[in-house]
Amino acid sequence: MFFQIRLQNYKKNRNFANFYSYLCNMLFNTSSIREYLCACPTGQLFVLTDTNTAAHCLPIFADFIGNLPYHLMTLDAGDTNKNINSVQLVWEFLLKNCATRQALLVNLGGGIVTDLGGFAAATYMRGIRFVNIPTTLLAMVDASSGGKTGCNFLGVKNAIGTFTQPLDTLICPSLLKSLPATEWLSGYAEMLKHGLIADKKHWQDLLAWDIHQQDIATLTPLIADSLAIKKQIAEADPYEVGIRKVLNFGHTIGHAIEAAYIHQGLQPYHGYCVLWGMVAEVYLSVVHTGCPREILTQLTHLMVEYYGKPECNCRQREQLMEYMMHDKKNRVTTTSYLQINFTLLRDIGAPIINQELSRAAINEALEYLFSI
Ligand code: GLY
Repeated sequence: MFFQIRLQNYKKNRNFANFYSYLCNMLFNTSSIREYLCACPTGQLFVLTDTNTAAHCLPIFADFIGNLPYHLMTLDAGDTNKNINSVQLVWEFLLKNCATRQALLVNLGGGIVTDLGGFAAATYMRGIRFVNIPTTLLAMVDASSGGKTGCNFLGVKNAIGTFTQPLDTLICPSLLKSLPATEWLSGYAEMLKHGLIADKKHWQDLLAWDIHQQDIATLTPLIADSLAIKKQIAEADPYEVGIRKVLNFGHTIGHAIEAAYIHQGLQPYHGYCVLWGMVAEVYLSVVHTGCPREILTQLTHLMVEYYGKPECNCRQREQLMEYMMHDKKNRVTTTSYLQINFTLLRDIGAPIINQELSRAAINEALEYLFSI
């Protein structure tokens, strides 16, 4: 089952309920992916996967599209490969196979494939069209829509990139079947974030949903709700000059933890790092912006029950602080100091952007996280 998200067709003034029925009206059966790709006005179809997707999802995709011809490229999986060398490999793949500006690139994979493939497409011959088919829960609810593309550079996550909208994002929840529990949890963390920043009902629905069951049927409407939140925010501020920064809730500290893991040669799950980041940032919200402590208690319980504690030696606060200094939300203030910029919460559904806090305050939140 697919639902298709086409930014151009969905106007931002519609409300969430309409959005859900919009998604339901767009339900595809799996065979219609072939019709969809056939209907794309291009004779040149290119498919990008990584080694994980090639093993688990490409056979399903190949079934969907039957004998439709395409060129396939498979990247090595893992965030360490989300770099400019891999982008160059995709450019080479397109060029050597004579891709013109009419070519269509299908990014079949998790967030690394959709981000990196989107960037390669956005820059190849000044931009070719691309379609994302996310294969992880995290990519379905976050990375594959909203137009952020890019790769890591000099150890800084997503330091190079563009805002370029995919032609479409095709969501097929049945692809989640092959995912390990850790991947489900990783995506679930980003869904929790959407609940916290935008919608108490979504937060409560997620808490009531039994992650142990990994039940795709009951998850599908929750995916639609999460996407509705993501889309409404991303469309209101496509270039992240203001309100879109709320989507970075949990990411200032989460990205720093993730960078510390990667620095040690480990491959963390992005959603786990975001969950840990959210715990620390809800702590900051309780202390600095009046967020009810009950939310911190609920999130801390979720962390203990499902995610455990960060295990890298990212307890070295100075190193984490250094990574936070590279966060893209930071601003240079009138005093010329680079300030670490947070999105915090006043309550569920009441985020507040551009909160700059002292190192002492940030250290206190890290202390809370690491002492759980
Ligand atoms: N992943 C956050 C955003 O798309 O803005």
